Amino acid sequence: MTDKTAHTGKNTGGGDVRLTGISKSYGSFTAVHPLDLTVPQGSFFALLGASGCGKTTTLRMIAGLEDPTTGTVFLGDKDVTDLPPYKRPVNTVFQSYALFPHMDISENIAFGLRRRGIKSVKKQVDDMLELVQLGDKARHKPHQLSGGQQQRVAVARALINHPQVLLLDEPLGALDLKLRRQMQLELKRIQTEVGITFVHVTHDQEEAMTMADQVAVMNGGRVEQLGAPADLYENPQTTFVANFLGTSNLIEAEVVETGADVIVTAGGGKLRVPGDRCTSAVRQGGKVLVGVRPEKISLTHADDAGSIADGRNRVTGRIADSSFIGVSTQYVVNSPAGAELQVYEQNIERDTRLVPGAEVVLHWNPAHTFGLDAAQDIDAGVETVEDAG
Ligand SMILES: Nc1ncnc2c1ncn2[C@@H]1O[C@H](COP(=O)(O)OP(=O)(O)OP(=O)(O)O)[C@@H](O)[C@H]1O
Ligand SMILES: [Mg+2]
Repeated sequence: MTDKTAHTGKNTGGGDVRLTGISKSYGSFTAVHPLDLTVPQGSFFALLGASGCGKTTTLRMIAGLEDPTTGTVFLGDKDVTDLPPYKRPVNTVFQSYALFPHMDISENIAFGLRRRGIKSVKKQVDDMLELVQLGDKARHKPHQLSGGQQQRVAVARALINHPQVLLLDEPLGALDLKLRRQMQLELKRIQTEVGITFVHVTHDQEEAMTMADQVAVMNGGRVEQLGAPADLYENPQTTFVANFLGTSNLIEAEVVETGADVIVTAGGGKLRVPGDRCTSAVRQGGKVLVGVRPEKISLTHADDAGSIADGRNRVTGRIADSSFIGVSTQYVVNSPAGAELQVYEQNIERDTRLVPGAEVVLHWNPAHTFGLDAAQDIDAGVETVEDAG
């Protein structure tokens, strides 16, 4: 591993990226509603959301490529809102990373230094080539490189300018799935090695969760929730986040008792939800949505219902569909509590009676249950076939 300072230069005091009350309107349309966001220095931060939610607009305001309608952009303690892009210690890598086709890889990487009139670039270019593991391709032209290699050149070309912050806008969008997965790990390694703040825009929830320390989930120009990947996944605060990050079963229910646990009824049965996993609206009582992830649920054939341990949440139903996908089998179960509940069972000891038509009990540890406000669209953030991919 190379010395950090070889790539990043001196740490100039740096600091967090802080957006305060930042917004962007185009005429009467608000692309980004006033938002406050802090990206900690040195972190890998993802802006995640569906197409059109305002990710690129937010990124462009950090870069200075877009004037905010309201609000302030700080880098550390410095207000950079009125600085032009080239005066900000920020570089951007776009999806179309457009390398210079007639220059070889070394020259592409050296470009930013040359433009600033720096003559002796060899050492820095070599360090960058090593960082992105393309030392043997220095004399190749971009068209002789794979998509992933070209992407790494684009990253090196940006990092050689020693930005405090690297902005990445769907940088892996042009790559096929397998290469994307490889590059996600590669970019994460590079970020860890150079220690520069990365702000990464993606609509791919798996990509955001794999790479980022912190994820801001955006929806309709607003940040719905911000947190570490596991926290967002386990404790979604809105139906959008519950559905957009992985899959959630959301069950319409009614509160009957509140205390340390909240007890609800759904489809004639009672379910227990830990009070600290309920949003404040849920603790007010009334109609609520109860959530549980598909992998937390166990399936037991109705004939064996007596074997299920006491104290587990349980829902009876009938298997509507099952798909064997090797590592797991994914079941769709219809029940009085909810239609089309999703259950993922690891294929360890498969019960051959669990086929479509079978009567089953779904059961899970109540600790894995969360409660959300019912006054929101239960299907918000559900991936439609159109956006899939
Ligand atoms: N110059 C502009 N004039 C008018 N509307 C714009 C302009 N730029 C963006 N928008 C609108 O602002 C909204 C947010 O756009 P933005 O590019 O930030 O979305 P995004 O989250 O990056 O989406 P994608 O994942 O498709 O790239 C969109 O509805 C878009 O149509
Ligand atoms: Mg975009």
